[in-house]
Amino acid sequence: MSGIVGYIGKRNAQPILLDSLEHLDYRGYDSAGIAISNGTTIEKRRSVGRVKDLRTCILREPIPSGTIGIGHTRWATHGTPSVQNSHPLTGCDDRFLVVHNGIIENYTALKRSLKKQGHVFKTDTDTEVIPHLLEQYDTGDFETTVQAILPLLRGSFALAMMSREHPNMIIAVSQDNPLIIGFGKGEAYLASDIPALLPYTREFYPIKNNEMAILTLGKVQLKTYDGISVEPKRVTVDWNVQDVLFPDQDHHMLKEILEQTKAVEETLKGRLTPVGVKLPEIEAPWSKERVQNISKIHIVASGTSYHAGIIGKKVLEQLLQIPVQVSFSSEFRDDHPPLDDRDLIIVLSQSGETADTLSALREAKRFGCPVIAITNTVGSTISRKADNTLYTKAGPELAVASTKAYTSQLTVMMLLALWLEQQIRDTHDEYSQALLESLTRLPMDIDSTLIMTKDAIDQLAQITYDQEHLFLIGRGLDYVLALEGALKLQEVAYIHADAYAAGEMKHGTMALITPGVPVIALATQTHLMDKVISNIKEVKARDAFVIGITKIGEDLLTEEVDQVLYIPETHPFLMPILAAIPLQLLAYYSGTVRGHDVDRPRNLAKSLTVE
Ligand code: AGP
Ligand code: GLU
Repeated sequence: MSGIVGYIGKRNAQPILLDSLEHLDYRGYDSAGIAISNGTTIEKRRSVGRVKDLRTCILREPIPSGTIGIGHTRWATHGTPSVQNSHPLTGCDDRFLVVHNGIIENYTALKRSLKKQGHVFKTDTDTEVIPHLLEQYDTGDFETTVQAILPLLRGSFALAMMSREHPNMIIAVSQDNPLIIGFGKGEAYLASDIPALLPYTREFYPIKNNEMAILTLGKVQLKTYDGISVEPKRVTVDWNVQDVLFPDQDHHMLKEILEQTKAVEETLKGRLTPVGVKLPEIEAPWSKERVQNISKIHIVASGTSYHAGIIGKKVLEQLLQIPVQVSFSSEFRDDHPPLDDRDLIIVLSQSGETADTLSALREAKRFGCPVIAITNTVGSTISRKADNTLYTKAGPELAVASTKAYTSQLTVMMLLALWLEQQIRDTHDEYSQALLESLTRLPMDIDSTLIMTKDAIDQLAQITYDQEHLFLIGRGLDYVLALEGALKLQEVAYIHADAYAAGEMKHGTMALITPGVPVIALATQTHLMDKVISNIKEVKARDAFVIGITKIGEDLLTEEVDQVLYIPETHPFLMPILAAIPLQLLAYYSGTVRGHDVDRPRNLAKSLTVE
């Protein structure tokens, strides 16, 4: 959702705020705004659109330089993307300026009560209740005024606030929404995530629930809401700034697709041995007895991570013979089966901040369920709330469409399934031994897949890019792959792509197959090949244009389709990782050919930190 930045120090705040906001606009880009203090007065500028539009607005109406400021790039949840609804937002008399990421779920009641007390509202946002509350409860001291209003707020809120009566101070809080403090020499930063601050520092502290940060010149104080001082335990990151901020490809998305070899390599590093899998993060808490006591596994995730979860389900069930249920995060909290401490919950989240997944995690903890998180973001809220965390090592993923994190999630799912099997059976049967061996070759197979498909897909996109409708069909793991391929085409190319279990087409959807409509047939599972070829014949009989994605040497399929894309053969469980790559590339090239901003697709954001 929205991105927040802040700066207090000796340098001009404006360029720091604007540059940092630019690296956060993947979180939302409906509007942007900053407020800057020169120690005496505070000026703000806001504009609809992206940070570059805000820069233009400031060029037309310059802000006097100042060394303290806050900024915001918005993904609107309440109130249209207009200048009026853009952050920083103020109350009646402009005294307090607030930028917010999240949703104030009780804003309607608060707004009603404030109106009764004479407050006049200017916007349709939920956020605006905050500056009005600060005015209403103003004690004359900024810190105690903030402390007075925090207990009134329900929902999720990362906030950075300034006061015209305290122009040398920024106060920040983070309740179920990420807000990181960056530490410099005599200066301090705020941002919704770490990459935005990498050009300035590598020392960070993620503000936790019930904590407030008071930033003044040369000093960062951290306190609980009731005023008890807290020592921030800093985190140091060693990410390569070049990788994060200056991709050498046209788009983050293409760069991240091409980085999948390295991402999977890093994710496997130190976890694979010739005789088995090592997962030190969970070895101590998960003894053999405890694993053998698991009655059911629940995988909970959203979007692409949910698709990784379905693949994980199939692998876990086959290797462990334990029932596995996969749920959308947004559904799980209100619709889950009976739970107890023998239910293992696995949450998948690239950002580690998805509000729906966080809520599901909390619901699981209510029933005493152990939670293992698989996430790509060190220090993320989900990694802090879970009992144990297995990190994908994909490096920062900045494009809204998840690619390298997805294939890295699948890699961790395979490792986890093999590790749990070791705890149950000590050894691996032939099938999982083959999986273990195939994992060692996976980075190389990904490289081969990229080489084999990158150019072919660029040409294929010329065929599909102008299609408004497109179908993807598959059986078993290939059906799950079809779901992920459809989501990629929807979110990046805005093509209405639909995924169907190949065997289900004849039960209704076949009515939509008209001459020339593109159908991508995923056929990577040898044991299902005959059946999926029959299904291909069914759509071919209605003159669909069929593109087959299959493994090298699968000649049977070649005669049945109009175009075929070959990928290397590996273990059936790993085929979805390889076959995801041409689908990611197809979405990327289709989106670029259609002239879309593939890194920042319309209406979307990278991290959905509101429910
Ligand atoms: C991925 O391509 C999508 N942009 C989106 O569905 C994403 O997977 C989903 O929002 C979950 O995000 P998370 O993995 O950070 O929790
Ligand atoms: N709810 C606030 C608004 O709509 C913030 C939105 C967000 O965090 O994306 O302005």
